[in-house]
Amino acid sequence: MSCKTLLILVAAVLALARAKTYDRCEFAREIQTYGVPADQVAVWTCIAQHESEYNTAAVNWSSGDHGIYQISELYWCSTSGTPGGGCNALCSQFEDDNIQDDTACAQLIYGQMGFPAWTTYQYCNGDVSQYTAGC
Ligand SMILES: *[C@@H]1O[C@H](CO)[C@@H](O)[C@H](O)[C@H]1NC(C)=O
Repeated sequence: MSCKTLLILVAAVLALARAKTYDRCEFAREIQTYGVPADQVAVWTCIAQHESEYNTAAVNWSSGDHGIYQISELYWCSTSGTPGGGCNALCSQFEDDNIQDDTACAQLIYGQMGFPAWTTYQYCNGDVSQYTAGC
């Protein structure tokens, strides 16, 4: 195996290692530790389920949405290599397994636009108690 092939393999394994698919309750518990108000947790858990199925590495290349909350590169983060957008962030940082920065950005978006900033909120604006049930 050439050195280059080995490097590509290592990079691929590292990329996989950085991605994570959350368990529903794990997500609900963790975002509270990042300061998400208790009365929002079930709604965010519903939104994340519909946006990414809790996959931190989710990317929609056609819309330009990144990560577990599918944050839009049109407004909130930058793909240019320099942090930017409303959250002053790199979109690629929203694709790793750390969702603290994603959650902070989602809270900033929520502060400006509310839940309707997420089109999937249409599935989450009623009784969402099932999303945190048993957690
Ligand atoms: C990607 O974004 C497009 C445009 O918003 C949307 O129609 C499509 O359903 C999205 N794909 C996924 C897998 O969410």
